[in-house]
Amino acid sequence: MILSGSDTWPRVAPLAKERALAQIHPSEITPEHLYLSRRQLMGVAGALGASLLLGACGPQAASPAPEVAADPRRDDLGDPLNSFEQITSYNNYYEFSTDKQRVARLAQGFQTSPWEVAVGGLVRSPRVFGLEDLLRFDQEERIYRLRCVEAWSMVIPWIGFPLRRLLAEVEPLAAARYVRFETVLRPAAMPGQRDRFYPWPYVEGLRLDEAQHELTLLATGLYGKALTPQNGAPLRLVVPWKYGFKSIKAIVRIDLVEQMPTSLWMAMAPNEYGFYANVNPEVAHPRWSQATERRIGEVGRRPTLPFNGYAEQVAGLYTGMDLRANY
Ligand code: MTE
Repeated sequence: MILSGSDTWPRVAPLAKERALAQIHPSEITPEHLYLSRRQLMGVAGALGASLLLGACGPQAASPAPEVAADPRRDDLGDPLNSFEQITSYNNYYEFSTDKQRVARLAQGFQTSPWEVAVGGLVRSPRVFGLEDLLRFDQEERIYRLRCVEAWSMVIPWIGFPLRRLLAEVEPLAAARYVRFETVLRPAAMPGQRDRFYPWPYVEGLRLDEAQHELTLLATGLYGKALTPQNGAPLRLVVPWKYGFKSIKAIVRIDLVEQMPTSLWMAMAPNEYGFYANVNPEVAHPRWSQATERRIGEVGRRPTLPFNGYAEQVAGLYTGMDLRANY
């Protein structure tokens, strides 16, 4: 049976943050994948502010699934989490399939260990990180909304660490202005990569200050477990204020570069997919509106928020920029 978060997370009564934290035993947090110490959990609280953590103490979600109780936690806007099953069975991962409901099956058994990520380019100390090195960074939980450019969305409890910590290890040089990410190229195991229509490997990019922003996460897990192959195991990017396609999966290369990288989607359809891809309800995709979205599991549509609801934290990155021209 697929476990929901309620099987792995403690139920905490709506108390003051400190008391709530004190009641959580560290071993209850991440039973399989990682072990968060109480100190690290405090770090999460500090980094994210009280709102996310208090969200964890919110009321029971309205309509639990029939067999598994819904996770009672909420995101910073008070929205319930999507279930583990929803998050792991409806996926965009073109290396496997363009059919979201087939990705999980096709990705089953995809080998994600051993794994290496080469971090280099314009840095003082280029380095190859093994998966075990990446798991040595303090891992935190971040409950983020994911808004796909196709106008559906989910709320996902990721586990991971801020990308800026990894970048600090390699010491970016002054000339570095962008970060370029690359997905593994393994056509024998990824049937979609045998389709020459797409310019594989999948590539994405961020401006260096976006990459160094506190919200930008390298995810290694979700719902307290290791990432599933379909969600981008063993390492994927999560940039919650941008359309989901920026959140590149199965990363094997990260390079600091001087020029703006060309992403796979920019190469495919430059008039539809720009470099920035900030969630913006006012700028329609050429083929559909971005004003509203369908939250997976909900009936009807809800308004899309500027920067996916993270404007307060990130709008300052774009001061003075024309967000229509830089879509
Ligand atoms: N990364 C790679 N390598 N290949 C992809 O096809 N799809 C992107 C992004 N990362 C994609 C990718 C898109 S369009 C979205 S919406 C998210 O992954 C979906 O992430 P999820 O399946 O974990 O929800």
